[in-house]
Amino acid sequence: MNHKGLDKSRLPRHVAIIMDGNGRWARLKGKSRIEGHRKGRASVKAVVDVSRTLGIPYLSLYAFSSENWQRPREEVGALMGLLEHYLCDEQKRMMKNGIRLLAIGDRDRLPISVRRVLEQTIEMTRDNATITVTLALSYSGRHDIVKMVQGIARKVREGSCQPDDIDEALISAHTETSTIPDPDLLIRTSGEMRISNFFLWQIPYTELYMTPTLWPDFRRDQYIQALVDFQKRRRRFGKTDDQEP
Ligand code: FPP
Repeated sequence: MNHKGLDKSRLPRHVAIIMDGNGRWARLKGKSRIEGHRKGRASVKAVVDVSRTLGIPYLSLYAFSSENWQRPREEVGALMGLLEHYLCDEQKRMMKNGIRLLAIGDRDRLPISVRRVLEQTIEMTRDNATITVTLALSYSGRHDIVKMVQGIARKVREGSCQPDDIDEALISAHTETSTIPDPDLLIRTSGEMRISNFFLWQIPYTELYMTPTLWPDFRRDQYIQALVDFQKRRRRFGKTDDQEP
């Protein structure tokens, strides 16, 4: 694999991606939106493969937001079908390649057939250790924060935690991403400059990479380019250049 310009010793530990532009890709090609999502699935496979072979241990993909339920019924149905088939088709490869699958979001809203294969895949891959792929499904960053506040408030009411005990670590531990590190790099395709209710608490020092490329066209080379760009950034975490290690 050609990784021109990429320093493999300085890769991000966690890459998060807002996969956007399937619909526009389809319109440009005179195809249905569903066809755009189908092509987008191939891009999912590409970024998972590249991340795994490079040794990036965490990849998170915003596959369906809470707001996406408002899309036309046929499109939601097609996306759920795509997801179900993706999970069925990929299970073997996940086992072979050491991919651990996690899901965040309101799973109860997913159709039972999707929930079943999702839970089966999560269980089946739980001990895999090469890469953790987290699918955000029916996910809302604000809802994650609401649930976190409710969880902590309950502990305070029960007396197992005092208000002064609440710190950043406790908050992180009560979010849906408690077991994965904060993203180092957040990629958004299709030229939009928004976070769209994806990770909110998790991205205080995450590097942002927004590209006009539409998601179905975002494949191995475009991903490598994003990683090379990431490596050019000076991450100072609020310190000065001189203090940087
Ligand atoms: C955004 O494009 C994309 C989505 C809402 C769905 C993402 C789904 C996939 C990439 C395919 C299946 C996923 C997996 C994990 C197998 P958009 O429809 O909002 O594009 P537009 O803004 O151009 O209309």
